[in-house]
Amino acid sequence: MDEKDLGADLADVLIPEDALQEKIRELAAQVDADYAGRDLLLVGVLKGAVMVMADLARALSSPVSMDWMAVSSYGSGTTSSGVVRILKDLDTDIMGRDVLIVEDIVDSGLTLSWLVSNLRSRKPASLEICALLRKPEAVKAELDVRYIGFDIPNEFVIGYGLDYAEKYRNLPFVGTLAPHVYGGGGS
Ligand code: XMP
Ligand code: MG
Repeated sequence: MDEKDLGADLADVLIPEDALQEKIRELAAQVDADYAGRDLLLVGVLKGAVMVMADLARALSSPVSMDWMAVSSYGSGTTSSGVVRILKDLDTDIMGRDVLIVEDIVDSGLTLSWLVSNLRSRKPASLEICALLRKPEAVKAELDVRYIGFDIPNEFVIGYGLDYAEKYRNLPFVGTLAPHVYGGGGS
């Protein structure tokens, strides 16, 4: 799917595909260096982190394990409530493991804060976060994100795993939605 197929739904391309891939390679090089000789477990947060997880994992030069969690914030709308429910838990016992959470975006940081304390209680050897995108609100959260791809403006973004009403996750770039899409329904 490319920009033409999106028609009028796309307002702007915020981060083009080549810039995303270049950044993923940089992040992977840092992760490779930091975890050299260790047995790293990547924990992807479904569904938004699917693309960054797949590309980051393939850009790493050392073998890693991968597991997934699906979480959902209670409440409706586009803001996170901080009350989180586990829809799918890890298959892996992370006690004593080096764990790197892979996320698409940090907005309020409430979801990640909850996830970090949940995973910390399972006693991993180490726990760090890699997030592709960060919005300005995230500075308010007391969250130590070790690996960040891009700081972006406070706009709703889609593509590269991120959805609006479950659509647009398959875009190879990150874009912003045209205002008429917000007004035109969806959840
Ligand atoms: P918090 O506020 O808890 O939210 O950091 C993180 C989760 O909210 C979703 N989110 C977005 N999803 N476009 C999206 O498609 C956005 O602009 C956006 N902002 C936040 C996302 O699931 C993230 O994990
Ligand atoms: Mg997410």
